[in-house]
Amino acid sequence: MTSVRAPMGETETIGFGPLDITFSEGVIRPRPWTTAQSEWAAEVLLDAPAGRVLELCSGAGHIGLLAVLGSGRDLVCVDRSAIACANAEFNAERAGLASQVEIRNAALDEAIGAEEEFPLVIADPPWVRHADITRFPEDPVTAIDGGDDGLVIARLCLRVIARALMPGGTAILQLGPEGQVEVLAAELPTYAEDLVHTDTRHYSRGALMRIDRVPSCRT
Ligand SMILES: C[S@@+](CC[C@H](N)C(=O)[O-])C[C@H]1O[C@@H](n2cnc3c(N)ncnc32)[C@H](O)[C@@H]1O
Repeated sequence: MTSVRAPMGETETIGFGPLDITFSEGVIRPRPWTTAQSEWAAEVLLDAPAGRVLELCSGAGHIGLLAVLGSGRDLVCVDRSAIACANAEFNAERAGLASQVEIRNAALDEAIGAEEEFPLVIADPPWVRHADITRFPEDPVTAIDGGDDGLVIARLCLRVIARALMPGGTAILQLGPEGQVEVLAAELPTYAEDLVHTDTRHYSRGALMRIDRVPSCRT
């Protein structure tokens, strides 16, 4: 894990719900439809067990920041891009959330301690199939390339979720619009038997998969 301080270079600022979000060249532009992920997460948080929220593949941090805004919850953001982490730190400060937010500039498999548990995990991995990334020339490859079937990084997120989601907790995982939820739902039991796919919300540009950890069955 390295320091989040990095030069931000050329930046642009846009609205994301009530938040102003700044992102640098080389960081994926916040997509307006993904406020739906924040809103679903915020809804879940109302009844979630106590504890910090974990956001995996946080980019400029907007999805997690909007999810915890007004909740008083602390947020841990993880992204391997130093510049995205610098953006997230800046955006947290401007939102008045700096004291609630910890930014971890790290790869997914190195970011979370063995004893750490979270009641809510938000994950937004790259999910474009490698063969299709040329369809999105405006997006940084490292932010969208999900490998051969688009699910390589999503599976890393599931490994973190299986390890770090607390009993009774919920994960909201963003995926592509075409069949990816069904693929991961079929694989879910191989990660942990007490993880259950409980709901899906479909949008024209993506899908959100809700996964719950059964409170009483964790081994
Ligand atoms: C689709 S972007 C999402 C960013 C942000 N949530 C958004 O909506 O703009 C995926 C993010 O995952 C990060 N990422 C990709 N692979 C990663 C890995 N193995 N570990 C940590 N972060 C990763 C990228 O740097 C990128 O910021």
